[in-house]
Amino acid sequence: MHDIVNGPIVSLRADAGACLLIGEGPQADALHADLISQGVICRRETNVEEVDVAGCGLVLAVDSDPQRNRQTLTRARDQGIALRYGPDCPELSTVDLPAVQPLGPARVAIVHDDELVRDDLQLRVRAGLPWRYGSLLDWYGQVRAESDDPVFLRQALSGPTAENLLAGRAIDPEAALADIRRQHADASGEVYLIGAGPGDPDLLTQRAVRLLRTADVVLYDRLVAPAILSLLPAQCQRINVGKQKDRHPVPQDEINVLLRDLAQQGRRVARLKGGDPFIFGRGGEELDRLLEWGIPFQVVPGITAASGCAAYAGIPLTHRDYAQSCIFVTGHRRQGGMDVDFPALVRPGQTVVCYMGLHTLGPLCAGMREHGMDPDMPAALVEQGTTERQRVVVGTISDLPERVAALDVHAPTLLIVGEVVRLRDRLAWFEGRADGDGFPGKDPTPS
Ligand SMILES: C[S@@+](CC[C@H](N)C(=O)[O-])C[C@H]1O[C@@H](n2cnc3c(N)ncnc32)[C@H](O)[C@@H]1O
Repeated sequence: MHDIVNGPIVSLRADAGACLLIGEGPQADALHADLISQGVICRRETNVEEVDVAGCGLVLAVDSDPQRNRQTLTRARDQGIALRYGPDCPELSTVDLPAVQPLGPARVAIVHDDELVRDDLQLRVRAGLPWRYGSLLDWYGQVRAESDDPVFLRQALSGPTAENLLAGRAIDPEAALADIRRQHADASGEVYLIGAGPGDPDLLTQRAVRLLRTADVVLYDRLVAPAILSLLPAQCQRINVGKQKDRHPVPQDEINVLLRDLAQQGRRVARLKGGDPFIFGRGGEELDRLLEWGIPFQVVPGITAASGCAAYAGIPLTHRDYAQSCIFVTGHRRQGGMDVDFPALVRPGQTVVCYMGLHTLGPLCAGMREHGMDPDMPAALVEQGTTERQRVVVGTISDLPERVAALDVHAPTLLIVGEVVRLRDRLAWFEGRADGDGFPGKDPTPS
């Protein structure tokens, strides 16, 4: 890393072409030393009035006088020089000098005109990467000379040798390559059943993020927020198998077969489901089939909508003074009727969380009243919980359906009923923005 006093951190490739550095002052001095050491500078000029920029690939105008920088850049532009840079004249610059974080043979370039932001981003990039990642990339280069098969190469990046390198241990490259060849010969795929949480990507577990990064292909549901998909590696194949209410773009049987076939091709298959895969997620059913077919799998829990929405709405699901138990139910209709055990919902000292209950909000609230729940029992509907579009509609089991009907509410939504809803008055801490990121557009099939 070439740290430049009061300026960008520059790392230009030695073959960047003739580079002309114009100006004087601490930034120009530091760049001068840096570019000379890299062998990319052609000359330095301090008298801007007489500078000839012809034939230069890159003009760096870093004078301490912004007016002189402007003159230089204007002259470079008039002479058709494609690349020029002036920290004080962004509108005249056509090239950014990024802060560069070297990682062995790779370099992470960070572009922003504010030095503090560059530093902050650089620290975050550094903190998010294993310290010896550069050594891993050096080793990867050797493996790439052997094969361009992605499965083979992936083993180099994430297998035992990779772990040894990241831990700073010495490796025997020949033995390690032989290991990879052997692993590749009997490579079998695997399915990762991963809970994507309720929407906010920061709520993914570390294990989920790690496995998603290594996945060759991902099958995802409708309730996986777009922000989460943006974390997938670019080369990872994405298959949307999202179901909508009463409409199954990819039938469950086909999803099961797809999981099997992809894993049997030796691929790492991430099966990504909203919330937690074992809570109203049919995760157990999919694993049953994989078990029958002898496909290995792992399960990564996710934060279920109840926990995520309650936390972001400021509604503790249990509280010593208000609720000593909590029940999760679904308000989904089955063959036209609702399959709800109302007597179990109206027990005192209990919070009721209802998934898939937007469409049946009226009958659900009416059913609880008819089975003896206090008509003034507080209730909240959390729309697109934990996302930037979160909205919480609060009322009682008597008036909530009417309040919700008056608003343009979009799925997914979660109903929370119980005395604990009152705590939101004091504990609410997160509100979304109408224009923020959430689940896509208007959902024609509210649940
Ligand atoms: C098929 S269930 C899947 C539940 C998921 N496995 C979980 O653990 O959260 C879908 C229902 O979860 C609830 N849900 C999921 N994400 C939500 C969110 N971000 N905000 C509100 N409700 C959500 C809604 O009730 C939605 O209809």
